[in-house]
Amino acid sequence: MDIEQIRTLVADDTTAVDDLIRQRLQSDVVLINQLGHYIINSGGKRLRPLLVLLSAQALGYTGPHHHALAAIVEFIHTATLLHDDVVDASELRRGQDTANAVWGNEASVLVGDFLYSRAFEMMVEVDNMRVMQILAEATNTIAEGEVLQLLNCHEPDTSEAQYLEVILRKTAKLFEAAAQLGAVLAGSGPETEAVMAAYGVHLGTAFQLIDDALDYSGDQSTMGKQLGDDLAEGKPTLPLIHVMRTGNAAQVETVRKAITEGAREQIGEVTEAIASTGAIAYTSRLAKNEALKARAALDALPASAYRDALTSLADYAVSRVS
Ligand code: IPE
Ligand code: IPE
Ligand code: MG
Ligand code: MG
Repeated sequence: MDIEQIRTLVADDTTAVDDLIRQRLQSDVVLINQLGHYIINSGGKRLRPLLVLLSAQALGYTGPHHHALAAIVEFIHTATLLHDDVVDASELRRGQDTANAVWGNEASVLVGDFLYSRAFEMMVEVDNMRVMQILAEATNTIAEGEVLQLLNCHEPDTSEAQYLEVILRKTAKLFEAAAQLGAVLAGSGPETEAVMAAYGVHLGTAFQLIDDALDYSGDQSTMGKQLGDDLAEGKPTLPLIHVMRTGNAAQVETVRKAITEGAREQIGEVTEAIASTGAIAYTSRLAKNEALKARAALDALPASAYRDALTSLADYAVSRVS
Protein backbone atom coordinates (compact mmCIF):
# COMPACT_ATOMS: atom_id res chain seq x y z
CA MET A 1 0.00 0.00 0.00
CA ASP A 2 1.33 3.46 -0.76
CA ILE A 3 0.63 6.46 1.44
CA GLU A 4 -2.39 7.54 -0.63
CA GLN A 5 -3.96 4.09 -0.35
CA ILE A 6 -3.33 4.14 3.39
CA ARG A 7 -5.09 7.49 3.62
CA THR A 8 -8.02 6.27 1.51
CA LEU A 9 -8.65 3.47 3.97
CA VAL A 10 -9.56 5.98 6.67
CA ALA A 11 -10.71 8.82 4.43
CA ASP A 12 -14.07 9.33 6.16
CA ASP A 13 -12.49 9.35 9.60
CA THR A 14 -9.86 11.79 8.39
CA THR A 15 -12.52 14.19 7.13
CA ALA A 16 -14.24 14.03 10.51
CA VAL A 17 -10.93 14.67 12.27
CA ASP A 18 -10.16 17.66 10.05
CA ASP A 19 -13.61 19.11 10.78
CA LEU A 20 -13.04 18.65 14.48
CA ILE A 21 -9.60 20.25 14.28
CA ARG A 22 -11.04 23.32 12.58
CA GLN A 23 -13.95 23.53 14.99
CA ARG A 24 -11.81 23.24 18.11
CA LEU A 25 -9.25 25.73 16.83
CA GLN A 26 -11.80 28.50 17.30
CA SER A 27 -11.21 31.26 19.80
CA ASP A 28 -12.63 34.75 20.15
CA VAL A 29 -9.06 36.02 20.27
CA VAL A 30 -8.39 37.01 16.68
CA LEU A 31 -4.66 36.25 16.59
CA ILE A 32 -5.26 32.69 17.82
CA ASN A 33 -7.67 32.10 14.96
CA GLN A 34 -5.38 33.65 12.37
CA LEU A 35 -2.19 31.94 13.40
CA GLY A 36 -3.90 28.67 14.29
CA HIS A 37 -5.64 28.38 10.94
CA TYR A 38 -2.48 29.44 9.14
CA ILE A 39 -0.45 26.56 10.54
CA ILE A 40 -3.24 23.98 10.44
CA ASN A 41 -4.30 24.83 6.87
CA SER A 42 -0.72 24.75 5.63
CA GLY A 43 -1.05 21.01 5.29
CA GLY A 44 1.20 18.75 7.22
CA LYS A 45 1.13 15.02 6.68
CA ARG A 46 -1.24 14.33 9.62
CA LEU A 47 0.70 11.15 10.35
CA ARG A 48 -0.03 11.03 14.07
CA PRO A 49 -3.83 11.25 13.63
CA LEU A 50 -3.49 8.58 10.96
CA LEU A 51 -1.77 6.36 13.51
CA VAL A 52 -4.57 6.82 16.05
CA LEU A 53 -7.21 5.99 13.45
CA LEU A 54 -5.42 2.97 12.00
CA SER A 55 -4.52 1.45 15.34
CA ALA A 56 -8.04 1.91 16.70
CA GLN A 57 -9.50 0.30 13.56
CA ALA A 58 -6.92 -2.49 13.48
CA LEU A 59 -8.06 -3.45 16.98
CA GLY A 60 -11.75 -3.30 16.17
CA TYR A 61 -12.71 -0.11 18.01
CA THR A 62 -16.23 1.02 17.17
CA GLY A 63 -16.78 3.83 19.69
CA PRO A 64 -16.83 7.61 19.17
CA HIS A 65 -13.53 8.82 20.69
CA HIS A 66 -10.93 8.09 18.00
CA HIS A 67 -11.66 11.33 16.16
CA ALA A 68 -11.11 13.44 19.27
CA LEU A 69 -7.87 11.62 20.10
CA ALA A 70 -6.62 12.03 16.54
CA ALA A 71 -7.33 15.77 16.69
CA ILE A 72 -5.69 15.99 20.12
CA VAL A 73 -2.42 14.42 18.97
CA GLU A 74 -2.33 16.75 15.95
CA PHE A 75 -2.85 19.76 18.25
CA ILE A 76 -0.02 18.60 20.49
CA HIS A 77 2.19 18.00 17.46
CA THR A 78 1.35 21.43 16.02
CA ALA A 79 2.09 23.09 19.36
CA THR A 80 5.53 21.43 19.42
CA LEU A 81 6.18 22.67 15.87
CA LEU A 82 5.27 26.26 16.77
CA HIS A 83 7.65 26.14 19.71
CA ASP A 84 10.31 24.19 17.81
CA ASP A 85 10.45 26.71 14.98
CA VAL A 86 11.07 29.49 17.49
CA VAL A 87 13.81 27.50 19.22
CA ASP A 88 15.39 26.45 15.91
CA ALA A 89 14.93 29.94 14.39
CA SER A 90 13.35 28.24 11.37
CA GLU A 91 11.81 30.33 8.63
CA LEU A 92 10.09 27.75 6.46
CA ARG A 93 7.57 25.07 7.49
CA ARG A 94 5.14 23.13 5.32
CA GLY A 95 6.27 25.12 2.32
CA GLN A 96 5.41 28.53 3.74
CA ASP A 97 6.88 31.10 6.10
CA THR A 98 6.85 29.82 9.68
CA ALA A 99 4.39 31.41 12.07
CA ASN A 100 7.32 32.98 13.93
CA ALA A 101 8.55 34.53 10.69
CA VAL A 102 5.09 36.03 10.06
CA TRP A 103 3.88 36.97 13.57
CA GLY A 104 7.05 36.81 15.68
CA ASN A 105 8.30 34.51 18.42
CA GLU A 106 5.96 35.76 21.12
CA ALA A 107 2.81 34.98 19.15
CA SER A 108 4.11 31.53 18.17
CA VAL A 109 4.97 30.54 21.71
CA LEU A 110 1.65 31.74 23.06
CA VAL A 111 -0.51 30.14 20.36
CA GLY A 112 1.51 26.96 20.91
CA ASP A 113 0.42 27.16 24.54
CA PHE A 114 -3.17 27.64 23.40
CA LEU A 115 -2.98 24.46 21.30
CA TYR A 116 -1.47 22.44 24.13
CA SER A 117 -4.11 23.54 26.57
CA ARG A 118 -6.97 23.12 24.08
CA ALA A 119 -5.72 19.57 23.57
CA PHE A 120 -5.93 19.01 27.32
CA GLU A 121 -9.47 20.41 27.45
CA MET A 122 -10.48 17.95 24.74
CA MET A 123 -8.76 15.13 26.59
CA VAL A 124 -10.82 15.80 29.68
CA GLU A 125 -13.97 15.49 27.56
CA VAL A 126 -12.91 11.97 26.54
CA ASP A 127 -12.94 11.19 30.25
CA ASN A 128 -10.58 8.23 30.28
CA MET A 129 -7.81 8.27 32.88
CA ARG A 130 -5.52 5.94 30.88
CA VAL A 131 -5.77 8.23 27.85
CA MET A 132 -4.98 11.23 30.05
CA GLN A 133 -1.99 9.46 31.57
CA ILE A 134 -0.50 8.51 28.21
CA LEU A 135 -0.94 11.94 26.65
CA ALA A 136 0.22 13.87 29.71
CA GLU A 137 3.36 11.74 29.89
CA ALA A 138 4.00 12.03 26.17
CA THR A 139 3.69 15.82 26.23
CA ASN A 140 5.99 16.07 29.22
CA THR A 141 8.54 13.78 27.58
CA ILE A 142 8.56 15.83 24.36
CA ALA A 143 9.41 18.91 26.41
CA GLU A 144 12.27 16.99 28.04
CA GLY A 145 13.50 15.89 24.62
CA GLU A 146 13.57 19.42 23.28
CA VAL A 147 15.42 20.67 26.38
CA LEU A 148 17.88 17.78 26.18
CA GLN A 149 18.51 18.67 22.56
CA LEU A 150 19.10 22.28 23.54
CA LEU A 151 21.80 21.08 25.93
CA ASN A 152 23.44 19.05 23.14
CA CYS A 153 23.48 21.97 20.70
CA HIS A 154 26.99 23.16 19.85
CA GLU A 155 28.31 20.03 21.59
CA PRO A 156 30.46 18.15 19.04
CA ASP A 157 31.13 15.31 21.47
CA THR A 158 27.48 14.29 21.66
CA SER A 159 27.32 10.50 21.30
CA GLU A 160 25.00 8.40 19.16
CA ALA A 161 23.33 7.18 22.37
CA GLN A 162 22.68 10.75 23.52
CA TYR A 163 21.29 11.62 20.10
CA LEU A 164 18.99 8.58 20.14
CA GLU A 165 17.74 9.55 23.58
CA VAL A 166 16.77 12.99 22.26
CA ILE A 167 14.82 11.64 19.28
CA LEU A 168 13.14 9.02 21.43
CA ARG A 169 11.76 11.76 23.61
CA LYS A 170 11.12 14.59 21.20
CA THR A 171 9.58 12.54 18.37
CA ALA A 172 9.14 8.81 18.98
CA LYS A 173 7.17 9.38 22.18
CA LEU A 174 4.20 11.00 20.43
CA PHE A 175 4.15 8.28 17.77
CA GLU A 176 4.18 5.77 20.62
CA ALA A 177 1.27 7.49 22.34
CA ALA A 178 -0.73 7.77 19.11
CA ALA A 179 -0.38 4.07 18.30
CA GLN A 180 -1.00 2.98 21.89
CA LEU A 181 -4.16 5.07 22.19
CA GLY A 182 -5.88 2.93 19.57
CA ALA A 183 -5.30 -0.09 21.79
CA VAL A 184 -6.50 1.79 24.87
CA LEU A 185 -9.72 2.85 23.13
CA ALA A 186 -10.34 -0.67 21.90
CA GLY A 187 -9.77 -2.02 25.42
CA SER A 188 -7.25 -4.49 24.02
CA GLY A 189 -5.41 -5.02 27.29
CA PRO A 190 -1.84 -4.31 28.43
CA GLU A 191 -0.10 -6.78 26.11
CA THR A 192 -1.57 -5.32 22.96
CA GLU A 193 -1.01 -1.81 24.30
CA ALA A 194 2.68 -2.69 24.66
CA VAL A 195 2.78 -4.07 21.12
CA MET A 196 1.28 -0.88 19.70
CA ALA A 197 3.56 1.27 21.84
CA ALA A 198 6.60 -0.64 20.53
CA TYR A 199 5.37 -0.20 16.97
CA GLY A 200 4.97 3.55 17.52
CA VAL A 201 8.36 4.04 19.15
CA HIS A 202 10.21 2.27 16.35
CA LEU A 203 8.19 4.05 13.67
CA GLY A 204 8.82 7.44 15.27
CA THR A 205 12.53 6.78 15.65
CA ALA A 206 12.79 5.72 12.00
CA PHE A 207 10.86 8.82 10.99
CA GLN A 208 13.13 11.25 12.84
CA LEU A 209 16.31 9.50 11.64
CA ILE A 210 15.16 10.00 8.06
CA ASP A 211 14.14 13.58 8.81
CA ASP A 212 17.64 14.27 10.08
CA ALA A 213 19.16 12.67 6.98
CA LEU A 214 16.88 14.74 4.76
CA ASP A 215 18.10 17.93 6.42
CA TYR A 216 21.34 17.30 4.48
CA SER A 217 20.19 15.24 1.53
CA GLY A 218 16.60 16.26 0.82
CA ASP A 219 15.05 18.80 -1.43
CA GLN A 220 13.80 22.03 0.08
CA SER A 221 10.69 22.32 -2.07
CA THR A 222 9.49 18.77 -1.34
CA MET A 223 10.46 18.98 2.34
CA GLY A 224 8.77 22.35 2.75
CA LYS A 225 11.53 23.21 5.22
CA GLN A 226 14.81 24.98 4.78
CA LEU A 227 17.66 22.49 4.50
CA GLY A 228 20.63 23.05 6.78
CA ASP A 229 18.51 24.33 9.69
CA ASP A 230 20.09 21.65 11.89
CA LEU A 231 23.58 22.81 10.99
CA ALA A 232 22.68 26.44 11.55
CA GLU A 233 21.63 25.53 15.09
CA GLY A 234 24.74 23.41 15.71
CA LYS A 235 22.57 20.31 16.20
CA PRO A 236 24.67 17.17 16.49
CA THR A 237 22.39 14.88 14.48
CA LEU A 238 23.40 11.37 13.43
CA PRO A 239 24.88 12.24 10.00
CA LEU A 240 27.32 14.61 11.74
CA ILE A 241 28.04 12.19 14.58
CA HIS A 242 28.92 9.58 11.96
CA VAL A 243 31.41 11.94 10.27
CA MET A 244 32.98 12.75 13.63
CA ARG A 245 33.50 9.04 14.25
CA THR A 246 34.67 7.87 10.85
CA GLY A 247 35.95 10.89 8.94
CA ASN A 248 39.58 11.86 8.33
CA ALA A 249 41.18 14.60 10.41
CA ALA A 250 40.11 17.39 8.05
CA GLN A 251 36.50 16.17 7.90
CA VAL A 252 36.30 15.82 11.66
CA GLU A 253 37.70 19.32 12.06
CA THR A 254 35.17 20.76 9.59
CA VAL A 255 32.20 19.16 11.34
CA ARG A 256 33.49 19.91 14.85
CA LYS A 257 33.79 23.57 13.93
CA ALA A 258 30.40 23.63 12.23
CA ILE A 259 28.67 22.12 15.27
CA THR A 260 30.48 24.42 17.68
CA GLU A 261 29.77 27.55 15.69
CA GLY A 262 26.46 26.55 14.11
CA ALA A 263 27.41 27.90 10.73
CA ARG A 264 25.03 27.46 7.80
CA GLU A 265 27.75 28.81 5.46
CA GLN A 266 29.77 25.64 5.98
CA ILE A 267 26.99 23.47 4.57
CA GLY A 268 28.96 22.75 1.38
CA GLU A 269 32.01 21.32 3.14
CA VAL A 270 29.88 19.51 5.69
CA THR A 271 27.72 17.92 2.99
CA GLU A 272 30.89 16.71 1.23
CA ALA A 273 32.14 15.12 4.44
CA ILE A 274 28.73 13.51 4.93
CA ALA A 275 28.79 12.14 1.40
CA SER A 276 32.30 10.74 1.52
CA THR A 277 31.81 9.00 4.87
CA GLY A 278 28.51 7.41 3.85
CA ALA A 279 26.75 9.15 6.74
CA ILE A 280 23.37 9.31 5.01
CA ALA A 281 23.52 5.59 4.21
CA TYR A 282 24.47 4.87 7.82
CA THR A 283 21.57 6.94 9.15
CA SER A 284 19.09 5.36 6.80
CA ARG A 285 20.37 1.88 7.69
CA LEU A 286 19.52 2.57 11.31
CA ALA A 287 16.13 3.92 10.25
CA LYS A 288 15.40 0.80 8.18
CA ASN A 289 16.28 -1.36 11.14
CA GLU A 290 13.81 0.58 13.27
CA ALA A 291 11.15 0.22 10.58
CA LEU A 292 11.72 -3.55 10.57
CA LYS A 293 11.20 -3.65 14.33
CA ALA A 294 8.02 -1.63 13.93
CA ARG A 295 6.75 -4.08 11.32
CA ALA A 296 7.68 -7.07 13.47
CA ALA A 297 5.63 -5.75 16.40
CA LEU A 298 2.51 -5.91 14.22
CA ASP A 299 2.76 -9.70 13.86
CA ALA A 300 0.85 -9.89 17.14
CA LEU A 301 -2.20 -8.17 15.60
CA PRO A 302 -5.09 -9.89 13.82
CA ALA A 303 -4.80 -9.68 10.04
CA SER A 304 -6.74 -6.80 8.47
CA ALA A 305 -6.38 -4.05 5.90
CA TYR A 306 -5.65 -1.69 8.80
CA ARG A 307 -2.77 -3.82 10.01
CA ASP A 308 -1.44 -3.89 6.44
CA ALA A 309 -1.69 -0.11 6.36
CA LEU A 310 0.32 0.16 9.58
CA THR A 311 2.94 -2.13 8.04
CA SER A 312 3.07 0.04 4.93
CA LEU A 313 3.40 3.15 7.07
CA ALA A 314 6.65 1.73 8.45
CA ASP A 315 7.93 1.36 4.88
CA TYR A 316 6.76 4.86 4.06
CA ALA A 317 8.65 6.33 7.04
CA VAL A 318 11.96 5.18 5.59
CA SER A 319 11.26 5.78 1.93
CA ARG A 320 9.87 9.28 2.20
CA VAL A 321 11.49 12.22 0.48
CA SER A 322 9.49 14.93 2.24
C1 IPE B 1 7.96 17.29 11.79
O1 IPE B 1 7.02 16.28 11.76
C2 IPE B 1 8.74 17.17 13.04
C3 IPE B 1 9.49 15.91 13.12
C4 IPE B 1 9.24 15.03 14.02
C5 IPE B 1 10.55 15.66 12.19
P1 IPE B 1 6.17 15.97 10.45
O2 IPE B 1 7.11 15.75 9.31
O3 IPE B 1 5.22 14.89 10.75
O4 IPE B 1 5.44 17.34 10.24
P2 IPE B 1 4.12 17.70 9.39
O5 IPE B 1 3.00 17.71 10.37
O6 IPE B 1 3.94 16.67 8.32
O7 IPE B 1 4.40 19.06 8.84
C1 IPE C 1 11.08 18.14 15.68
O1 IPE C 1 12.42 18.20 15.64
C2 IPE C 1 10.61 17.53 16.98
C3 IPE C 1 9.57 18.31 17.61
C4 IPE C 1 8.92 19.27 17.04
C5 IPE C 1 9.25 17.99 19.00
P1 IPE C 1 13.13 18.96 14.44
O2 IPE C 1 13.53 20.33 14.84
O3 IPE C 1 14.21 18.09 13.89
O4 IPE C 1 11.99 19.04 13.36
P2 IPE C 1 11.93 19.97 12.10
O5 IPE C 1 13.07 19.58 11.23
O6 IPE C 1 12.02 21.36 12.59
O7 IPE C 1 10.61 19.64 11.48
MG1 MG D 1 13.12 22.14 14.09
MG1 MG E 1 14.74 18.55 11.61
